[in-house]
Amino acid sequence: MADQPDWGKIRDEFPTLSRKIYLNSCSLGLLSNSVRNALHRFIDSWNDHGAAAWYTDWMAEIGSVRQRFASLINASPSEIAILPNISSTLGVISSSMDLGPGSEVVTTALDFPTVAHHFLAKERIGVATKIIQSTDRVKIDFTQFEETISPATTLVATSHVYFSSGYVQDVGPVVDLAHRNGALALIDDYQSTGQVPIDVKELDIDVLVSGGMKWLLGGPGTAFMYVKEDLIEKLSPTVTGWFANRDQFDFNPNEMVFRDDAGRFETGTPPVASIFAGAEGLKFVNDIGSQAIRDRTKAIAGRLVDRLKDEGFKLRTPDDPERHASITMVEMKDPALAVEELAKRDIIVDYRPGAVRFSPYFYNSFEDIESAVTALCEIRQALEV
Ligand SMILES: Cc1ncc(COP(=O)(O)O)c(C=O)c1O
Repeated sequence: MADQPDWGKIRDEFPTLSRKIYLNSCSLGLLSNSVRNALHRFIDSWNDHGAAAWYTDWMAEIGSVRQRFASLINASPSEIAILPNISSTLGVISSSMDLGPGSEVVTTALDFPTVAHHFLAKERIGVATKIIQSTDRVKIDFTQFEETISPATTLVATSHVYFSSGYVQDVGPVVDLAHRNGALALIDDYQSTGQVPIDVKELDIDVLVSGGMKWLLGGPGTAFMYVKEDLIEKLSPTVTGWFANRDQFDFNPNEMVFRDDAGRFETGTPPVASIFAGAEGLKFVNDIGSQAIRDRTKAIAGRLVDRLKDEGFKLRTPDDPERHASITMVEMKDPALAVEELAKRDIIVDYRPGAVRFSPYFYNSFEDIESAVTALCEIRQALEV
């Protein structure tokens, strides 16, 4: 058996944990010492070199972030575009799909709303968006995809892990179903990459979008878009910019020739400070390894679920630990008040309509879980759970 990571030592890399019980990584992963140092390196290179920093340090860092994200999902760096957020990845990729009258997009009510919002806004240009509703607010049954996806479908866009319930969706069959109907499959992996392993080749995913802010520990400002190699040259975006141009530094306004790799889906100047942080966050995750992180997070989240159930709380989260990824929703009448009360006790969680949301990560301890559940029990009377 491979050596277990030293979780105590790893925990010491996150100074926030000496002051708080932090259970909100699905909103924002914690700052590590190494990411803090990377941001200082960015500032120093800017200060030391001015614009020459692009060549002394920044280009290399952009290369590192691309390579580290690619290796995490089993892709090639040439299949990765870097953008500032998921919404812009959707803008670029959908602009390359010629969506218009007669196009149909299938997504679900459990996916992060920016996905549905993006495609609903295209109603004006004749795109129909079908949103599959969940019966239990935890998952979508595969039969619902079967009933909705048809040869009229152009694109299926859904998540690997639902932000709304922590459910780990078996995306392979959904991707196959899309392909059998002649549609492309786009997977939003933001709530998964880092904490649940994924292999884009094995699953034959066409497009995968993710970002640095949550489980990749890189803070806000970076998003990544994988586009399958065979598709890259077939897709030319209309939302674009000079970084997508093959001959970018010719500064020739008379010609737009796209790059051959996924860089064609980039637009303008990349978010360099965020890339420094993102590359270091990815290094942290890659050094531990996605499977070790999954095993650890599954154990911690499993303990949380068991303890909450012992105490009689009602959960809106998958029962099967194999289908559950960290995010744990606890139904409450007044979740905002619960979050406020827990914060007074230095326990950081969040809420979504009707539920308090806990999202532990590998750097949390079993003691963190016990303290959080004990605190929740203390305040439950006041909250009239
Ligand atoms: C699954 C998922 N997709 C997308 C987003 C955010 O999209 P954007 O990067 O456009 O803000 C989030 C949360 O912030 C999310 O949880």
